[in-house]
Amino acid sequence: MDKLVIRGGTRISGSITASGSKNTSLPIIAATLLTGNGTFILRHIPNLRDIMTFTKLLQHLGSEIDFSDNTMKIFSANVQSIQAPYELVKQMRASIYVLGPLLARFGHARVSLPGGCAFGPRPIDLHLMAMEKLGATITIETGFIDATLREGKLRGAHIDFPISSVGATGNALMAAVLAEGTTTISNAAAEPEIETLCKFLIAMGATIKGTGTTELQIEGTDTLNAVEFHNVFDRIEAGTLLAAAAITGGNITVNGVEPEQLKAVLKKFAQAGCTIETTSNSVNLKSPAKLIATDVTAKPYPSFPTDMQAQWIALMTQAEGTSHIIDKVYHERFNHIPELNRLGAHIDIRKNQAIVHGPQKLSGTKVMSTDLRASASLVLAGLVAEGTTEVLRVYHLDRGYEQIETKLNSLGADITREKYNEF
Ligand code: EPZ
Repeated sequence: MDKLVIRGGTRISGSITASGSKNTSLPIIAATLLTGNGTFILRHIPNLRDIMTFTKLLQHLGSEIDFSDNTMKIFSANVQSIQAPYELVKQMRASIYVLGPLLARFGHARVSLPGGCAFGPRPIDLHLMAMEKLGATITIETGFIDATLREGKLRGAHIDFPISSVGATGNALMAAVLAEGTTTISNAAAEPEIETLCKFLIAMGATIKGTGTTELQIEGTDTLNAVEFHNVFDRIEAGTLLAAAAITGGNITVNGVEPEQLKAVLKKFAQAGCTIETTSNSVNLKSPAKLIATDVTAKPYPSFPTDMQAQWIALMTQAEGTSHIIDKVYHERFNHIPELNRLGAHIDIRKNQAIVHGPQKLSGTKVMSTDLRASASLVLAGLVAEGTTEVLRVYHLDRGYEQIETKLNSLGADITREKYNEF
């Protein structure tokens, strides 16, 4: 098993380019199941554990995939299986993204129920509601979702999501593009990941109105084709790199980004005292002498993203004053807090609110990763902690960050990746 050994106290400064977005890549890769007409060429796909897991799943279904130098070629004409096995689904919840495309193309899908998650329940009832609205019959037996069509095809419908769900919106879109007639989706997720999925499906030949908004209208079609597509940047990786400079008193430029997609995060960095300068495709952040405690409430886009909540809490341990961080998306997403407190932070949890008392001097020790963004917050804390911090179980980190220690070391960090055994 790998750990990151971080020698704290260095400034994170310099220029770096963001990788392609993980959370955009996954639905786009799933959407290649919708057609066997041609070979997809997807560029700027990050080389991550989750991407490898998903690639294995699609190959299990029959897709032919070649992935090198962040370019993925996918040929799905010979997909025969409609069953996503537990062994792969349990490694990554987003495997549920194959449900919509398989149902739309083959009229049948059997997807293992996803496993649990470190930061609380992550139901899929909205995914199933959307499929049923479009004409699927869903049964759940022996740990599998079995979805079949009541009639020959999916039929356009009105889907009104009671809460904003990125995954359920993605599945509904990928099913509706091959349904007969018109589908409208109300309270759709408007995250950039969904906006980019809409653009990808339109490039494939789908007709979608309302891209980037919470009201989508899809005209079903019979024919979709493979396309070449350049994936967008990873806004959460970019936010995490900015936080690394902010927490260490550094000065960083992140290139290859769309500042608009980071608006809520940049606003909070500025409120915390950072100087922010943007161009059309980059963000520069200069950290202040003293960070100012700044409250954050994580909500669906365009608000501050829940995937930056753990990183923000790490940053606020170094800010002057008390900050209140609320997560309205995942109320229990605070597994990073006990580990941050072991580094010397002073953070209380009250229901779905974290109260961070700063600034607190952090001292390096061994800490345990529990989930992807929690491990990122521990790395950030390790950068500023005195002495050496060992972040264990970095397989969590490798799910969503491409060579994070290489990137941070190129910006002045002192991190080594080492093997270790757990008792
Ligand atoms: C996506 O997960 C992301 N994952 C998550 O990022 C991200 O935290 C989340 O969206 C919110 O932005 C990927 O894109 C692969 P949701 P998803 O459906 O789609 C509830 C990371 O760190 N809900 O938008 O699973 C749910 O419990 C990961 O990269 C239902 O109640 O999230 C949550 O409270 C972690 N029923 C809220 O909706 C459902 O059927 C939003 O979840 C589905 C969701």
